[in-house]
Amino acid sequence: MIDRTIEFRKDFVFGSATAAHQVEGDNRFNDWWAHEHAEETNAAEPSGIACDHYHRFADDFALFQSLGHQAHRMSIEWSRIEPREGDVQAAEIEHYRVVLEKLHELGIVPWVTIHHFTLPQWFAQRGGFSEKKNLDAFRRFADLAGKHFGDLCRHWCTINEPTIHAEMGFRFGYFPPRLRDDSLSAQTLENLFRAHSQVSEAIRSHVPGAEIGITLAMAAIEAFDPESDADRKMVEQRDAETNAASCDALRTGVFRYPGRPDQEIPGLAKSSTFVGVQYYSRTRYDASKGGFAMPDFNRTITQMGWEIYPEGLAPVLRQAAGTGLPVYVTENGVAHDDDRVRVEYIADHLAMVDRVRQEGADLRGYFYWSAMDNFEWNFGYGPKFGIIEVDRTTLQRKPRPSAHFFAEIARSGKLTPGLVKKYTENV
Ligand code: BGC
Repeated sequence: MIDRTIEFRKDFVFGSATAAHQVEGDNRFNDWWAHEHAEETNAAEPSGIACDHYHRFADDFALFQSLGHQAHRMSIEWSRIEPREGDVQAAEIEHYRVVLEKLHELGIVPWVTIHHFTLPQWFAQRGGFSEKKNLDAFRRFADLAGKHFGDLCRHWCTINEPTIHAEMGFRFGYFPPRLRDDSLSAQTLENLFRAHSQVSEAIRSHVPGAEIGITLAMAAIEAFDPESDADRKMVEQRDAETNAASCDALRTGVFRYPGRPDQEIPGLAKSSTFVGVQYYSRTRYDASKGGFAMPDFNRTITQMGWEIYPEGLAPVLRQAAGTGLPVYVTENGVAHDDDRVRVEYIADHLAMVDRVRQEGADLRGYFYWSAMDNFEWNFGYGPKFGIIEVDRTTLQRKPRPSAHFFAEIARSGKLTPGLVKKYTENV
């Protein structure tokens, strides 16, 4: 619970985030759709119509505007624009132009993510980002995006959570293509940083002065038993793999990853104008159990089974600020059925942002994940991250009290204990 008033700078950005596959609906040409419908899938349910945001975006954006969102981070779905290699769909390009124009019309600043987990099936079938030779196709797509959307978008996120895409897909067998190969996972991660560098250049060629960054999944990584050498060693390795290697690569242009030779990546050190931090929780490691420890059940546990651990945001923000780049929290949020938990979650995490900002870090904005309840990957529609509730039967949108809480902060630039109280006592 916060105990003081926090004031944000006038130019601090408050926004919300979504991703195409999680909200648009009917994205049938990507690898996730295939994964959701595979016989032996580990996905709880298919994405189906999602939030039908593909058709309802105008009303959704008007609602975001009424709730004070100054910026909206969304992704463009490569598999819609290029469902078969080279077969570029003019109608889908036009669709996203209309989407971006709508945001402008409402005075919401668009932030476009080029790759948010999903791949066109044709690209996934040839190995996706695990194969260096495939990067050209992605670069071509980014070039096309810069060319067609560059006049409507200045803020670009190249790749969403490269470590999650690499590890969940290629190391832990959890996301498509469900492989378990440490070396392929590390190669994929390296390739994603190469892709970031190439794509940044492509976007910049169309949008001089563009703001470009990669958005990193960062977690608080801690030992289950701080006295245990084995746990501490595991933490050191997992912190390198999860957080440090990515930040170091952005700062130096060299990809250094445990157990692999260093790789200099052309253009990487100069590729970005900001870095995105996406933070949700802490993971503890217990060497005696061979890896992940159970969460601390004395803390509030979310619908994802994650601990609420706001204090873990501060160290990762410092780590990200160590890249020398301005930092935005491009995702932070909670899935919980009690909206008061969401209000406190937002307040406590914003307090960490403020703490690190007061230490001198260049922190410029905060995007809540997610604007609305959506398709939570393998969890399906169970977890509710939205500040806007979406009724799964009618698809009707209904802002939760936390959405109004967030709006008050965004409009005033102020977060006070009284405001938290107002939204946690009277709901
Ligand atoms: C992803 C989102 C996801 C969220 C909550 C991030 O890993 O970028 O797509 O829904 O976390 O799990």
